[in-house]
Amino acid sequence: MLPWKSFAVDLALKSGALLKEKFSQTHEINYKGEINLVTEADKMSEDLIIEAISRNFPDHGVLSEESPAINGTGKLRWIIDPLDGTTNYAHGYPVFCVSIALENDGEVILGVVYDPMREEMFVAERGEGAYLNDKKISVSSIKNISRSLLATGFPYDIRESKDNNLDYFNTMAVNVQAIRRAGAAALDLAHLAAGRFDGFWELKLKPWDTAAGCLLVTEAGGTVSDIAGSEWHLQSPNLLASNGLIHEQMIKVLRFK
Ligand code: IPD
Ligand code: CA
Ligand code: CA
Repeated sequence: MLPWKSFAVDLALKSGALLKEKFSQTHEINYKGEINLVTEADKMSEDLIIEAISRNFPDHGVLSEESPAINGTGKLRWIIDPLDGTTNYAHGYPVFCVSIALENDGEVILGVVYDPMREEMFVAERGEGAYLNDKKISVSSIKNISRSLLATGFPYDIRESKDNNLDYFNTMAVNVQAIRRAGAAALDLAHLAAGRFDGFWELKLKPWDTAAGCLLVTEAGGTVSDIAGSEWHLQSPNLLASNGLIHEQMIKVLRFK
């Protein structure tokens, strides 16, 4: 077991408890863009996480959504989304999570996604499988895209950019059983790892949205690539993740452009 695993799980529990406690209160909302919000809870969760990392592992780097990056002196770097699903959170829609990943020399080795409303802790260590509340999870066995339940999301520049996923969404919608847009990409990926979704794609995600979730998917037996089927990495402009069985079918549908 990686020595940082219990630290990361404990941190996710603490920041999740904070998010849950503040959830029903009135939020201080600031706009980072036309429709891109940040609340006081994003910041409080992030402060709690970064303070604990800096105190316990002063040599580790940190990449977190709401703060400037911290360069570590070694090869280990934490990648944090202190609140994934901020728009849901700000509206009182109870679908959000905290996402914590640890990278070693560019490779994600640990991923933790915690949903405090459902008290669901998703954990993956590279090479050790994926777990939900300590029970091993695996991706679904749906083989036919037409029977699949997919998840996706839309970028914050949906109003300004034509590269906004609406065309892919339209095309995919008539090829599958249904598509959900729940509003928390890290949680979508965790649910895919647990077999609740059969596939997921999205454009313009950031490393903090995907680092933990993609490790969960691959450790649960799923497949991750970009939407053209090429190798995916944290900086890729788009992501396609699936149970593996419908991967090629999803690529084929998304190839219409
Ligand atoms: C967002 C959510 C959403 C996705 C956006 C993300 P945030 O993250 O994951 O589902 O569609 O692309 O930016 O802003 O709530 O942390
Ligand atoms: Ca996010
Ligand atoms: Ca966030």
